[in-house]
Amino acid sequence: MVYVEAQNLPSHIGIIMDGNGRWAQLRGRERVEGHREGSKAVRRIVRAARRLGIRALTLYAFSEQNWARPDLEVDALMQLLREFLLSERDDILDNGIRLNAIGNLGRLPAVVRTVLDPLRSDSAGQEAMTLTLALSYGGREEIANAARELAREVAAGTRSADDVTEEALHARMPSLSVGDPDLVIRTGGERRISNFLLYGLAYAELHFSDALWPDFAEADLYEAIASFQGRERRFGLVGKAAVPVLGEGEGAATSERAPRSEESATVLRLVG
Ligand code: FPP
Repeated sequence: MVYVEAQNLPSHIGIIMDGNGRWAQLRGRERVEGHREGSKAVRRIVRAARRLGIRALTLYAFSEQNWARPDLEVDALMQLLREFLLSERDDILDNGIRLNAIGNLGRLPAVVRTVLDPLRSDSAGQEAMTLTLALSYGGREEIANAARELAREVAAGTRSADDVTEEALHARMPSLSVGDPDLVIRTGGERRISNFLLYGLAYAELHFSDALWPDFAEADLYEAIASFQGRERRFGLVGKAAVPVLGEGEGAATSERAPRSEESATVLRLVG
């Protein structure tokens, strides 16, 4: 049983969906079959997040670097994306989900664009949850694009160099239009970020799951959220229960707060 607090849900969750290839290889099957099974996990987790009331879910579906994979695999992934967008269209529209996409979308083939673009515009007014697919996406590329935009403004004389601020950069990151990610989950046992949401990750909580993405179940999502809820986010400040260490004078060191106990949680919801 996993308990998730109804309050204190992460508003924006990002997921690095890793392990499709290994899932297939472990079964003596083609990598593409792992991706197909991974699509089913996408459906499962989108529905679970929507039911929980998560406001924004960003899925790393295809990185800018993934174009270098064998053509057969890239084509299969594009086909799966198309199938996903077609099969989920009604569900997305009926459940108040806004379908968003970030990344170098101009590189996507027509088979994807012809279903992606209409769903983006048809769901644009929906507000319950924003589902963002990171497609042909790279965090460094996103930062470089934002920097380039600001550089153009400086060159055109509409912005001074001193106005190239953290806020100005942030405002030009499409991945952060739904707010910074609060929780980033990576499946598949690796513990790295692989160029995902780099700028927004500054204060995100990270959760690494050993489950291969096709095996990632609702219960694994709840476990990640419960783990998030058990942490104290300090954003560079001292903990809420930090107390000055006596005898150290001004600017005394502080002791860190102990992890929050189960008892202090106000509303608990049994979810799985
Ligand atoms: C990483 O696994 C996964 C990807 C590169 C693609 C993710 C794609 C899907 C989950 C399916 C299609 C997406 C949608 C939104 C319907 P990997 O192949 O690198 O796994 P490995 O590390 O085991 O080789």
